[in-house]
Amino acid sequence: FTVNMDPDAADKGAYPFYMLKEIDEQPAVMRRLVQEYLGADGQPQIDTELLAQMKAADHLYIIGAGTSYHAGLIGARLFERLAHVPTTVHISSEFAYEQPLLSDNPFFIFLSQSGETADSREVLVHVNENHWPSLTITNVDKSTLSREATHTLLLYAGPEIAVASTKAYTAQVAVQAILAKALGEFVGNQAAQSFDIKDELAKVANGMQALVDSKEEIEAIAANALAKPRNAFYIGRGIDWAVSLEAALKLKEISYVQAEGFASGELKHGTIALIEKDTPVVGIITQDRTAGLTRSNLEETAARGANVLTIAARHLAKEDDAIILPDVDPMIAPLLSVVPAQLLAYYTSLGKGLDVDKPRNLAKSVTVQ
Ligand code: G6P
Repeated sequence: FTVNMDPDAADKGAYPFYMLKEIDEQPAVMRRLVQEYLGADGQPQIDTELLAQMKAADHLYIIGAGTSYHAGLIGARLFERLAHVPTTVHISSEFAYEQPLLSDNPFFIFLSQSGETADSREVLVHVNENHWPSLTITNVDKSTLSREATHTLLLYAGPEIAVASTKAYTAQVAVQAILAKALGEFVGNQAAQSFDIKDELAKVANGMQALVDSKEEIEAIAANALAKPRNAFYIGRGIDWAVSLEAALKLKEISYVQAEGFASGELKHGTIALIEKDTPVVGIITQDRTAGLTRSNLEETAARGANVLTIAARHLAKEDDAIILPDVDPMIAPLLSVVPAQLLAYYTSLGKGLDVDKPRNLAKSVTVQ
């Protein structure tokens, strides 16, 4: 696998759709990020000027749209845990027109696969007018958001052609983990010092490989559970909830199943009324503190007829779990839990005979506000 940034050079090879190729490339992208960003000693090699500007900030604001916004939801938790800096995530089209009250020393992180999303650029223009420091994390070198931000970190994911983003999401999460580790070390935070990012990303790459190698099982689950229903839910708590949002977006954008990602504890406050016989409810379970709670919430939906499926980390797994994820540090579990969700969406779309790479009404890059 060689990463080539020339889109004309992207080639589907033997794959029926780019999306499946891009899902399969994720282990290689993780290994490439280790090469690009980590030294032989396993420490992140990040520009100290960037780290100094981030250290000087009292709050990080992550800005993104669509899948990039969802990657930011994971990143925020990483920056808070590893670097102890308050971090919030914002949808760019909201932030641009309804800006929250900002802290005294803000630092902005723009997440964008393409680097061209108009709503995100609108925010960056305002950030620059105010001379606030910024970083763009993008897959496209010299893209607009890269050129206009103070700093850039590249995703090194290679061209992403399918409209539904997959490898850019996992690359965004991984780059944020590397940056959060670097910043945490820079400010002397103990949690960062004990987080072995090199070892964890190696485990992630192997875990992703095991998941993409089990695609036939995931295809069978998609055919049984998702081919017919018009509605589906992904549920979880904390970062499992954040992954639920991305998992649901994948399913709706390419298979046209009305899917919702939901905080599992919030279901009982109204949304559980939607559960009918055979409604698919997929639970994501990777966090020790909330695993039991999410399992109880799943039982509540099963009692109302839901077809419950679980994606669970190995150390929390039970016999009936549909998909078991290899164990990694729970902070970066989304790098693995999202992969079966990507495959479930892919095979549901494929089974319906849809154009997986070019879903109706959607564009790869949205340059209007
Ligand atoms: C479009 C794409 C999504 C993507 C979003 C943000 O809606 O269809 O897949 O997540 O734009 O794009 P960006 O390039 O800024 O990450």
